[in-house]
Amino acid sequence: MSIRKPLPHEAARLHVTGTARYVDDIPTPANCLHLAFGLSQVAHGRIKSIDLSAVHSAIGVVEVLTAQDLPAANDVSASHHDEPLLAVDTVHFVGQPIFMVAATSHALARKAAQLAVIEITELTPLLTIEEALAAGSEFEDPPTYLKGEPEKALNSATHQIDGTINIGGQEHFYLESQAALAFPQEDGDMLVHSSTQHPSEIQHKVAQALGQPFNSVRVEIRRMGGGFGGKESQGNSLACACAIIAARCGRPAKMRYDRDDDMVITGKRHEFRIDYRVGFDNYGRIQAVDFKQYCRGGWAQDLTLPVADRAMLHADNAYHLPNARITSHRLKTNTVSNTAFRGFGGPQGVVGIERVIDHIAHHLGKESLQVREANYYAPKSANAGQTTPYHMEITDSVIDQISDTLVDFSGYSARRTAVTEFNAKNSILKRGLALTPVKFGISFTLTFLNQAGALVHIYSDGSIHLNHGGTEMGQGLFTKVAQVAATLFAQPLSAVKITATDTAKVPNTSATAASSGSDLNGMAVKNACETIKARLVAFIAQNWQADPAKIRFTKAGVEIGTTILTFQEVIATAYQNRISLSSTGFYKTPKVEWDRTKGTGRPFFYFAYGAAVTEVVIDTLTGENRILRTDIIHDVGKSLNPALDLGQIEGAYVQGAGWLTTEELVWDARGTLKTHAPSTYKIPACSDRPAEFNVALFEQGENTEDTIYRSKAVGEPPFMLGISAFMALSDAVAACGDGTQYPDLQAPATAEQILKAVMAQKGETW
Ligand code: MTE
Ligand code: MOS
Repeated sequence: MSIRKPLPHEAARLHVTGTARYVDDIPTPANCLHLAFGLSQVAHGRIKSIDLSAVHSAIGVVEVLTAQDLPAANDVSASHHDEPLLAVDTVHFVGQPIFMVAATSHALARKAAQLAVIEITELTPLLTIEEALAAGSEFEDPPTYLKGEPEKALNSATHQIDGTINIGGQEHFYLESQAALAFPQEDGDMLVHSSTQHPSEIQHKVAQALGQPFNSVRVEIRRMGGGFGGKESQGNSLACACAIIAARCGRPAKMRYDRDDDMVITGKRHEFRIDYRVGFDNYGRIQAVDFKQYCRGGWAQDLTLPVADRAMLHADNAYHLPNARITSHRLKTNTVSNTAFRGFGGPQGVVGIERVIDHIAHHLGKESLQVREANYYAPKSANAGQTTPYHMEITDSVIDQISDTLVDFSGYSARRTAVTEFNAKNSILKRGLALTPVKFGISFTLTFLNQAGALVHIYSDGSIHLNHGGTEMGQGLFTKVAQVAATLFAQPLSAVKITATDTAKVPNTSATAASSGSDLNGMAVKNACETIKARLVAFIAQNWQADPAKIRFTKAGVEIGTTILTFQEVIATAYQNRISLSSTGFYKTPKVEWDRTKGTGRPFFYFAYGAAVTEVVIDTLTGENRILRTDIIHDVGKSLNPALDLGQIEGAYVQGAGWLTTEELVWDARGTLKTHAPSTYKIPACSDRPAEFNVALFEQGENTEDTIYRSKAVGEPPFMLGISAFMALSDAVAACGDGTQYPDLQAPATAEQILKAVMAQKGETW
């Protein structure tokens, strides 16, 4: 049985030998055109004039287009139709595409794009959350979730504190930048290769940009070199631009963003400010909390509304909040339009409540773990009837069990004592320790998206051709889904050919997102395989005069009572007897239903849980810091593939820790991104991985819901385990003073931020 084995990623060999093919590696004909955008250098303004004569006459240039030249829809928005491919009259952020150039090479297109003379009358830009708030620039009226009587409970609580945390955004930094390649076909049809998590949306956007029905466009993607949410909607511009040029010139057209352009043009994780007020008792048990979440959406809606929803939906994390109010402001600013990023707003919501817990612990002089334990949702066995702030009953919590196991696994108590002793002896270096949990809701919160399709063929030689609507971005989805097919037919994984995602094979798909890839596509593939299997069983029973109950697909072959035939023999015979050996499959997630505007119902099929302990050391003279050790226990239900799951957990933790420590996005006063290359934007390097890194799957894990082989989604939830690094830094800073002042660390906790906080602890001025 292939399932549950720690098999390597299906393309690992291709990855490490450099033969895995990405969009940019597809052999292109000699007459292929290469595209570049001309970008706005102004954050907000009215376009007075555009002089493109120098661009036109530049060497190698074949075509130059502005908004007026587009054949049909000028719209690359994922949601609200508020995002033109090329600017019309007004520009809304530094980096907005105003025109496109097609030239005979990538370099010539980029060079020519620099030659435009564009006059813009500058308008006052709204750059920050505060500026947008003051101007009332919001995408919609702020929604509120309400549970119990937060105001009353707050006022009558023994203790009350309040505070604010600012949380920076994050650049996706997928290693493969955005890319698309369009091939014109006969009769106006278009084939597009796009590095996208969402081939169906690319298909729709390209069709609309060409003024054609969806069936004239086919989108294919074999794999991405990372997506992390940054390729849910951000590939639309490149795909549409290529298709428009390809249609117009009758030549293939290709576009890939240079790294700097990619960082300037594409949306990122949303920056947040979270204001909190909390009331609690002497044990640190929360009586009521009031969160005001503010997020910087950028100039267009993109996915801001659902991202902000998910931040609200994770404002409780793993804690039972008897009374709660959560208000969410979705601010429209003259900055890049922020988008999906691993966790989809969830991480920002979780940072809010973890910060509250940390603050409570400091206020009461308690160990923060005690305060966490005092607030965890009750275990599933307790049947406590506890609900979330959106009134969904929590019936599957294993957070207490995971936390207890992790305390042992990590030697938490002894290490707490050791950290205290270390800090008493050392005045320059200080250590910090923190355990943080995660509870993450699995399902798309836009309920109809929770559907998937598959297409499975068995050829007459018994080899299997597998296709489904999900996309591969390194997370191992294709491996897991192939394991499902291999298991159902009891064939080795090598018998299953994994093929590129293709809108012509499986239509109307959702983005591979919300960590639901294997849940949805695994089930759709299972459904397709079972259809074929049922046909085979009926045929075998008739052909070999066997009892259907005695037909088994095993490693040895197809067992028919005491006879064993090879799978290949059975398939060849079935083919000769005209049995259909191909089937589609379909799946829709049951039980999910909720009211987005009221904030009530069941948005999630189930929750994934985990916890991490991080130990850090800081240098109080420079703010430099290191993660010394990390221990993680994470719940993946019954793992489909433990090797891939461990890889996802490790990668997610490091990416989460990077977000809250070294990854800092800096814009200047004119709204220009200053950190647009790896020289100034610091993602974790191999050397930033915890020196000691112990990761284990939660052994007792089992999904209480009927998911694919009782597994749980793993892509995003462990990202939030990185929050333990931030809380450990807060703990280390708290050890620098006399303990009276809360560190009030802001995110990201760069060396500079830490030094600032340390100096504040010591009563020194920055
Ligand atoms: N892992 C790798 N290696 N590369 C990625 O781009 N994206 C993450 C996560 N893990 C990503 C990744 C995000 S944002 C999501 S939503 C899930 O994978 C999507 O895939 P899944 O649904 O198959 O888990
Ligand atoms: Mo992941 S942010 O849902 O692509």
